[in-house]
Amino acid sequence: MNRSRTLAALAALAIAAPAALAQTDGVYTMTVDTKAKGRAISPTMYGLFFEDINYASDGGLYAEKIKNRSFEFPQPLQGWVAFGDVEVRDDGPFDRNPHYVRLGGAGHREKHTGLENEGFFGIGVEKDALYNASFYARVPSGQKAKLRVEIENPSVNAESQVLASAEIEVSGNEWKKYAAQLRPYTTDPKARFRIFLVKPETEVDLEHISLFPANTFKGRDNGLRADIAQRLADLRPGVFRFPGGCIVEGTDPATRYQWKNTVGPVENRPLNENRWHYTFPWRFFPDYYQSNGLGFYEFFQLCEDMGAAPLPVVNVGLVCQYQNDADHQIPLDSLRTYIDDALDLIEFANGDPSTKWGAVRAEMGHPAPFGLRYLGVGNEQWGPEYVERLEPFVKAIRERYPDIKVIGSSGPNSEGKDFDYLWPEMRRIGVDLVDEHFYRPEDWFLAEGNRYDDYPRKGPKVFAGEYACHGRGKKFNHFNASLLEAAFMTGLERNADVVEMATYAPLLAHVDGWQWRPDMVWFDNLASVPSASYYVQQLYTHNRGDRALPLTMQGKPVAGNPDQAGLFATAAADDATGDIIVKAVNTSSEPRALKLDFKGMRGKQGFSSVETTTLHADNPEADNTLANPATVVPVSKTEALEMAQDYTTVLPANTFSVYRFHKAEVKK
Ligand code: AHR
Repeated sequence: MNRSRTLAALAALAIAAPAALAQTDGVYTMTVDTKAKGRAISPTMYGLFFEDINYASDGGLYAEKIKNRSFEFPQPLQGWVAFGDVEVRDDGPFDRNPHYVRLGGAGHREKHTGLENEGFFGIGVEKDALYNASFYARVPSGQKAKLRVEIENPSVNAESQVLASAEIEVSGNEWKKYAAQLRPYTTDPKARFRIFLVKPETEVDLEHISLFPANTFKGRDNGLRADIAQRLADLRPGVFRFPGGCIVEGTDPATRYQWKNTVGPVENRPLNENRWHYTFPWRFFPDYYQSNGLGFYEFFQLCEDMGAAPLPVVNVGLVCQYQNDADHQIPLDSLRTYIDDALDLIEFANGDPSTKWGAVRAEMGHPAPFGLRYLGVGNEQWGPEYVERLEPFVKAIRERYPDIKVIGSSGPNSEGKDFDYLWPEMRRIGVDLVDEHFYRPEDWFLAEGNRYDDYPRKGPKVFAGEYACHGRGKKFNHFNASLLEAAFMTGLERNADVVEMATYAPLLAHVDGWQWRPDMVWFDNLASVPSASYYVQQLYTHNRGDRALPLTMQGKPVAGNPDQAGLFATAAADDATGDIIVKAVNTSSEPRALKLDFKGMRGKQGFSSVETTTLHADNPEADNTLANPATVVPVSKTEALEMAQDYTTVLPANTFSVYRFHKAEVKK
């Protein structure tokens, strides 16, 4: 909007504006102190939190298309249909994944013997794309045999049922890896994969049957699904927390996340049950396991690719406290293994290749350190049982790795008994950051814009490690929740001296296999779609700035206070470009006339243009879906200014806008 149209709009709004609110003649004037030093905003401020929930890993970000590829599910053929003469055996070549199958000679010229895999809610394949099929095989007799691999869809007519196929000759009684490329002639979101003996006369043993798209993120073997990984990278996260969440804790001690089981050759990474497979009885997924193909090496590599600080979380000797009694706590005198896991992880990430775990990293292809600086100890644990376990971890980490920042927890709630108990304990123990979690309704987000204004400025910093607005009665993604997240986040940025990082949760969800809503990115077997909440996060990461500048209205921060007409705002300076960035959210259902007054820009200083990016939906319940991915997307425009030292505009109802002001060149 140009300046004269803006002033006309302001005059019109003046009539409608409520009298007691912080406005003059209908205009809400916000003052940004451009000369203030401000509060340094950490590069880690806005990031991502990854957990294998909602099939985020196997069936999601991890590009493997075969479910139960090593036959290690408790029912070894779960996910497979065996036909002909198939026997499961358990003396295979990989000691931690000992099961494999023997395809027998059926003694019949036409009868097929083999297996068909259902994938994760089917196998998604694209027309003309290449897929790498591979498996380990041996022929016990030492002879030759021929196997056929197929991508197929039994639901189409008989002639075109096979979408792609290849024949592979195997030979010898030693286990060897075999591979073939398949190129489907058509796209199919729910295909299947078959492998069978072309002639059933010779017995063949098969293990670790795999199917990856050739096009993985960065073209890596054992890689990530390119579209989903790219969504994460496009967000430019400052920090990446992994691998959870409750899966760090596990359902019981045996199923806790153990990072050492997730490194080294994928064929020998043992399977783990996923804690989310039966957490909610109304969303029961008995086939939900963790292959650990996406493990800690791959997580660190992804962090490096995205330029995000890695933030792994380790188990503190407690399993999920929601699901377990005290008898599932690890006794204090048995914590050594757990503490060693934490210390060894730091060595894996940062140690010289001459160290035991640094050598494992180097062997996997990354001799240089991954630059780990943060370590979470425990997920959202609570009570004295957490504190007494955390203390020895902190002591051991401080002794060996004094530069690592340790993150403790304030429990699962944003306030209340556990929270009030844990924060002083975290200060006493001297952790560097405290991980706060809040899945809260609209009124909480509207009221908490000033949450951190009065937090102590000394002591542990805040990591808002899991949060999302969960609308009352609306347990699904919708724009109003995202808008309130944007509003709340102004308070994170304003308090950048207290809040060092923040990550929305959960990140990913398969449309056919979710356990938890809302989520940031939804996907099916072929495509993914960012939610409005994703775009809120992206607008923050792309417009982070280096210093939070004072921004006030009538001398007070703009934090949704009762007299502030539903407005939230924050300002930041981008030191590399000299830009001033104002983020403003109008949570009300009326447009608001705004005047931004830039204190300190006088004389020849001024702005030559402003780039405004706006996120808005008329329908508060709207969000993006795979079918309609562009329902709520940011819209940008650039407006020329003439040495502007203030700026007037109208912030529409229910809108999040980011204004990036570019400074004019000063002629000397
Ligand atoms: O994000 C989903 C779950 O919420 C996480 O696993 C857990 O930390 C929290 O309760």
